[in-house]
Amino acid sequence: MDRIIIRGGNRLSGRIPISGAKNSALTLIPCALLTDEPLTLRNLPRLADIDSFQHLMNQFGVSTAIAGSRPEDFGRVMTLQATRITSTVAPYDIVRKMRASILVLGPLLARAGEATVSLPGGCAIGNRPIDLHLKVLEAMGADIEIAAGYVRASAPDGGLPGGTYSFPVVSVGATENALMAASLAQGTTILRNAAREPEIIDLCNLLVEMGADIEGIGTSDITIHGVPRLHGATYEVMPDRIEAGSYACAAAITGGDVDLVGARANEMDATLEALIEMGLHVEPYKKGVKVAANAPLKAVRLNTAPYPGLATDMQAQLMALLCKADGNSVLTETIFENRYMHVPELNRMGAHIDVDGHTAVVRGVDRLTGAPVMATDLRASMSLVIAGLAAEGQTELNRIYHLDRGYERLEEKLQAVGADIERVGGD
Ligand code: EPZ
Repeated sequence: MDRIIIRGGNRLSGRIPISGAKNSALTLIPCALLTDEPLTLRNLPRLADIDSFQHLMNQFGVSTAIAGSRPEDFGRVMTLQATRITSTVAPYDIVRKMRASILVLGPLLARAGEATVSLPGGCAIGNRPIDLHLKVLEAMGADIEIAAGYVRASAPDGGLPGGTYSFPVVSVGATENALMAASLAQGTTILRNAAREPEIIDLCNLLVEMGADIEGIGTSDITIHGVPRLHGATYEVMPDRIEAGSYACAAAITGGDVDLVGARANEMDATLEALIEMGLHVEPYKKGVKVAANAPLKAVRLNTAPYPGLATDMQAQLMALLCKADGNSVLTETIFENRYMHVPELNRMGAHIDVDGHTAVVRGVDRLTGAPVMATDLRASMSLVIAGLAAEGQTELNRIYHLDRGYERLEEKLQAVGADIERVGGD
């Protein structure tokens, strides 16, 4: 199994191209099911999850073609076409490997009137229920039953009527399923307390490009007037705000400076505010964001929250950075129930982090030491890379398939700005 070796201590400096957003791509791809015309997505990141989703779409009879792109290019162009949907079943062996597969539920239901999707099950960061996905689709008129580990959803003969639903908890995925299903509903759907993440806006923008009628984009109250059909489109995936924030932390922990080329500052306000509070210099410009660490890092208090609050997907990476801050920082994870899997591994590298329920107290230390560490989930893996970049000695990161799910060509991007990092084949 591949692993990554990092020899810490190098100061990072230079340009890092930011790839297309994984969490946008994973909701844009299933939109191909909503029309029989071709959907072309540009700037798709080269990630394991994108490949898995392509395979899942093929299961439904969707043709997929990757436009010619040189191996050295970042991102890919994929054209998908659901001329006819030949199956509406998302099998367990695919869904269990990629939770985002649940995002085919809404589109299949809207286009084909039915869907049978394996329950995704939990993952390292939590049990990840899908009750809100099911409740909002029921509110729109779907008939939902759960049997033998699968969700079976069906729409009335004339199609989904549409309806009104107030989310008790902000859910990115449930909002996405609802938006895709509502776009082809017979009537109007009103979503209250909907997620407002930039990836939701990206999805709404694509749906509108395909002919959907959506009001309140970017707000927590969204109204979707169903239309009889949607047409194809060509659309560019937004840049990955979490990847950009992750590399800002990587440069900062080495006392370096980085130009996050393509990052959109207005989509990562809370992260940039946290970095500024920690003493970093942050300079947004037309085509990206520059971040430089030219002063000692200050301890801060951070709480994760639904957008526009601080992204839970940035918690582990910011925690790694705070291990080197002056003083004690306090982080509170309010979204997932088990998103501190990186803490024991960071402590093995010399950090002093105590966890009490949803709160972690990070006591800054002068030095971290390299060690063999274990990746447990995507963002925890990145926090260990960040710590390794500043640690004295060598850090060996195992189970790096987690990283490959969310970071396109990570070693190359970090090597290009001076990191001593390499991927070595498994034994
Ligand atoms: C999306 O997951 C992202 N994944 C996650 O990114 C991200 O952490 C999360 O949103 C929050 O921003 C993708 O977009 C593919 P939620 P999602 O539904 O949609 C509870 C990463 O590292 N909940 O907003 O699954 C849930 O348990 C990944 O890139 C229910 O209770 O997240 C959680 O506590 C990790 N019932 C909270 O809501 C439901 O039906 C937020 O979950 C759905 C969710």
